[in-house]
Amino acid sequence: MSQEQEARQEPEATRRDSDSTESSHANRGWWNRNADDYQIEHGTFLGDDRFVWGPEGLDEVEAELLGPPESLKDLDVLEIGAGAAQCSRWLTRQGARPVALDLSHRQLQHALRIGDDVPLVEADAGALPFRDGSFDLACSAYGAIPFVADPVRVFREVRRVLRPGGRWVFSVTHPIRWAFPDEPGPEGLSVASSYFDRTPYVEQDEQGRAMYVEHHRTVGDRVRDVVAGGFRLVDLVEPEWPAWNTQEWGGWSPLRGNLIPGSAIFVCVRD
Ligand SMILES: C[S@@+](CC[C@H](N)C(=O)[O-])C[C@H]1O[C@@H](n2cnc3c(N)ncnc32)[C@H](O)[C@@H]1O
Repeated sequence: MSQEQEARQEPEATRRDSDSTESSHANRGWWNRNADDYQIEHGTFLGDDRFVWGPEGLDEVEAELLGPPESLKDLDVLEIGAGAAQCSRWLTRQGARPVALDLSHRQLQHALRIGDDVPLVEADAGALPFRDGSFDLACSAYGAIPFVADPVRVFREVRRVLRPGGRWVFSVTHPIRWAFPDEPGPEGLSVASSYFDRTPYVEQDEQGRAMYVEHHRTVGDRVRDVVAGGFRLVDLVEPEWPAWNTQEWGGWSPLRGNLIPGSAIFVCVRD
């Protein structure tokens, strides 16, 4: 089936297993089909060259989770699931040498539309096309990790391409959100399913082929995955919803953000 035919089908949302191959295939197609709408909807909030960690709007300028800005100068940085490479562009402005990697060709075309100042690589986070020890730092703002079936495989890859002492900082949907409906209003405030149910969220076509997949891990799972991937966890940041942010982003809203965390940012070190 062509991508256009796939796009015309109304997907069914369900919870079922989805392995690495299926998840990767489905998400590549979804991000290619939806990159234009995504950038129209969220591009202004993200900014062309800001480093925003998630829908709360936490900016790396204030968070300094990668380290003080002056320490980023001359570092080789890998951004995973970079989308339109907004974060990488901010890193370039700090004097770092980022490489922006993403699964989606269309997302990377948006990166090129914004500017040609960042090297782009189209690849899956589960198989990084770089030599061992190529980078000083790796980061990901909601890129790849929420979408992969086997995060430990990604973490091992990140560890392999990092030099000793390198940081790996990534943000994901806060695991608690999986117990609630993905709605920004009051209906998103009542627990609707088990936090402990790891069954992936899948949108599939009439033939049962996955068109979009997200994977749930509990907080404990994430910590264990980080350790199994060969990292030391040094911080787990749960950004609070700031008063200035009146924007909704899907199920993330001021209403919910003031009551329950929406993002989790893991700060890890490769010893
Ligand atoms: C929510 S966007 C985050 C990008 C950017 N930080 C932003 O906020 O727009 C998720 C990105 O992860 C990418 N992605 C999903 N699965 C991936 C995988 N297995 N490997 C690499 N990138 C992946 C998608 O193509 C998409 O560009």
